[in-house]
Amino acid sequence: MAFPEGFLWGGATAANQYEGAYLEDGKGLNTSDVLTAGSHTTPRRITWENPQTHETGSTGMGFGSPMEFPEGAVPAVIDGEYYPSHVATDFYHHYAEDIALMGEMGFKAFRLSMNWARIFPNGDDAEPNEAGLAFYDAVFDECAKHGIEPLVTLSHYETPLSLTINYGGWKSRKLVGFFERYAETVFRRYRGKVKYWLTFNEINLMSMAGFMAGGVTDTSEQARAQAAHHQFVASSLAVRAAHEISPDIRVGQMLAYQPAYALSCDPADQLLVQERSHATLWYADVQTGGAYPEYRLLEMKRKGIEVSMEPGDLELLSHYPADFLSFSCYGSTTLTTHESDAGAGNFVFGVKNPYLKTNAWGWATDPACLRLALNTLYDRYHKPLWIVENGIGWDDVKEADGSVHDSYRIDYLRENIASMRDAVTLDGVELMGYTMWGCIDLVSAGTGEMRKRYGFVYVDRDDEGQGTLARSKKDSFLWYKKVIASNGEDT
Ligand code: BG6
Repeated sequence: MAFPEGFLWGGATAANQYEGAYLEDGKGLNTSDVLTAGSHTTPRRITWENPQTHETGSTGMGFGSPMEFPEGAVPAVIDGEYYPSHVATDFYHHYAEDIALMGEMGFKAFRLSMNWARIFPNGDDAEPNEAGLAFYDAVFDECAKHGIEPLVTLSHYETPLSLTINYGGWKSRKLVGFFERYAETVFRRYRGKVKYWLTFNEINLMSMAGFMAGGVTDTSEQARAQAAHHQFVASSLAVRAAHEISPDIRVGQMLAYQPAYALSCDPADQLLVQERSHATLWYADVQTGGAYPEYRLLEMKRKGIEVSMEPGDLELLSHYPADFLSFSCYGSTTLTTHESDAGAGNFVFGVKNPYLKTNAWGWATDPACLRLALNTLYDRYHKPLWIVENGIGWDDVKEADGSVHDSYRIDYLRENIASMRDAVTLDGVELMGYTMWGCIDLVSAGTGEMRKRYGFVYVDRDDEGQGTLARSKKDSFLWYKKVIASNGEDT
């Protein structure tokens, strides 16, 4: 048998991209609720208001679109803008139907995030919002009905907005305590219902987009290094609390990981690859490995970054590292120190890899990246791994009869699953599960679009917020069902 028995096949989502109901039943605003839609060519924006003058406007959100708030302005929902997270694809009102569809595909695991501001609307409230807690009870009960294990992210670009406005987001140490209260509340409430948790989605996004990663509006490296430290401490406190509450709970790290390749065999290009890898891996060295690596400490010293730590922080990090390491991996990045006319590469880094195909958003598909990622991370940490995001965004066409013929998605996943199988069967990597990203269509985090679809299930909703929200199965739906039923043998 290729994959171990009990392998957790499934799909992944995030509240800010999927749940909608942005102010229902006592939920507060979170950082994603002030992000406009964008496109492949137009960056999303953060909208703001000056509470004194009532002047409004918007700014970039990082990722190469600089974030600048005028004096006195705070992020806010303003009139005349469209915010994709507000309705998203309305999981809030479709959860029973959606989980039934996941059950029909045979999902063993469903990754979702909990909307922190649904539980603590302002983030610093003394008591949780019962209606928010009850919603997730209903979701987990529905999962149990279908034999699906939830994997819950505590924070997926969903810092309560009040924590940004009143404390500057994760830059403030105060958030450690607020997060600990939130984590403890939900660990206790859902003990026996949720065994697998993740703390911060793609914690290393803090290097590029502090607002999304932690509600930080200060763009300095100093602020983002401090915010990351606070998240590490909060993660260890969550691990400690979880283990005290129940020995069955496992709390993982979540890292955005793309293997990096050098465009040429110039040693300078290899050094650049190492530098780029370090920029990602130090986050896992701390959160999963339990200590700041020397190369990061020296880098901070060189740059004059001084992270303020409390006595006991370093012991806490080393005593309570993450139980497992999960990661997202969509493709690889190709880097060079030379001038290149190859064109832009994946995400914000790199150049085009001549050996790889790209989708309409310029993301290169590279099945080998999963095997490479799994090996690198397993060799380094020797902890169980979980691929919690992988997939391909595509502007799917729904036919008149509701069908969607997404053979490109099947091809992509088939090759990616084969690569993951090699890592397990040929390299001996310990892999807990695979949750394909965006299993039911949802809003793109990078662009805010609907047209960049990932799902096995099509949702009738467009980039202007029009559509019935009706669900229909794509061809990949039955294909994935077969994959799961055969535990990855029949692809
Ligand atoms: C990951 C995020 O980076 O990539 C998800 O954790 C995101 O939230 C996914 O949706 C795919 O990116 P995009 O921009 O295509 O939605």
